[in-house]
Amino acid sequence: MTTFVDLAAWLAAEPADAALKDVVQSVAATCAQISGVVASGALSGSLGAAGSTNVQDEEQKKLDVITNDLLSDALKACGPVAGLASEELEEVEPTGRVGGYLVTFDPLDGSSNIDVNVSVGTIFSVLPAPTDHVPAEADFLQPGRNQVAAGYAVYGPQTMLVLTLSGGVNAFTLSADGQWLLTHPDLSIKPDTAEFAINMSNQRHWADPVRRYIDGCLQGKEGPRAKNFNMRWIASMVADVHRIMMRGGIFMYPWDAREPGKPGKLRLMYEANPMGLVVERAGGRATDGAERILDIQPTKLHQRVPVVLGSANEVEVVRSEMQRG
Ligand code: F6P
Ligand code: MN
Repeated sequence: MTTFVDLAAWLAAEPADAALKDVVQSVAATCAQISGVVASGALSGSLGAAGSTNVQDEEQKKLDVITNDLLSDALKACGPVAGLASEELEEVEPTGRVGGYLVTFDPLDGSSNIDVNVSVGTIFSVLPAPTDHVPAEADFLQPGRNQVAAGYAVYGPQTMLVLTLSGGVNAFTLSADGQWLLTHPDLSIKPDTAEFAINMSNQRHWADPVRRYIDGCLQGKEGPRAKNFNMRWIASMVADVHRIMMRGGIFMYPWDAREPGKPGKLRLMYEANPMGLVVERAGGRATDGAERILDIQPTKLHQRVPVVLGSANEVEVVRSEMQRG
């Protein structure tokens, strides 16, 4: 029988400091708990709308609220956490401690999928905290390249945790007895792909470069790309990115003209940065079309950005198309 290393043993061998390992353990333990709540669905009365909206004016599901509370409570109780910020909370929440780490998270990504029993996930990012004061919002506004850890949990047919600290990307599967076991060490994303993920229903609102790129893919073997493309769109970023981690591909949520003043749909601090780090550490790329995602200087906590990420060569095709304008 194959034996798998568990997260605690794997972390023990990582060259990160003990405080950061505590933070990662706390997030991982909470994701295991969230997995149980998500799996219980209607049995625990946790499906459906919460009857409230969040700071982004999106309707909150009961599970958005439950998972946000679980993560917030766990991180406030975790000694090295100086502050947290959530997609579901208007403001940052300092814990009162100084030094250690800041954690930002999307407690339940893809929550429109909850009620139809399609994969959802949790995304998290860990940044260094200031060492001389209790953190305020400005201290969270660090570029993604400062992240000391990032990852996501996907609640799908299997619950998995995909994690990067200082080195590569490793994926753990949650066992029936609640342990995170290393099942997918050293993930790497193939540089080439013939599979794209984009919400095609927005086609008429796209900018020309996105239209040209997707047109080229759709023309298949007879077109400029000289190969047939497949399309997937789960509408849970976690699940779409996880597919790319497993078999390559490109994921795009570009700017579009529905709300021209909005740079994109996805949030820099809770979605683009952590996924950008995971993807880059696995050999992929992540760009907003003009700049590497991880080099963007955030100006607002809930900032949105266009996102193009995945297989390195394919992201480069889109990036150069976007540069042409
Ligand atoms: O968090 C935003 C999100 O739910 C992502 O998980 C997902 O990729 C995207 O929105 C889906 O957007 P749309 O509703 O346009 O398909
Ligand atoms: Mn999300």
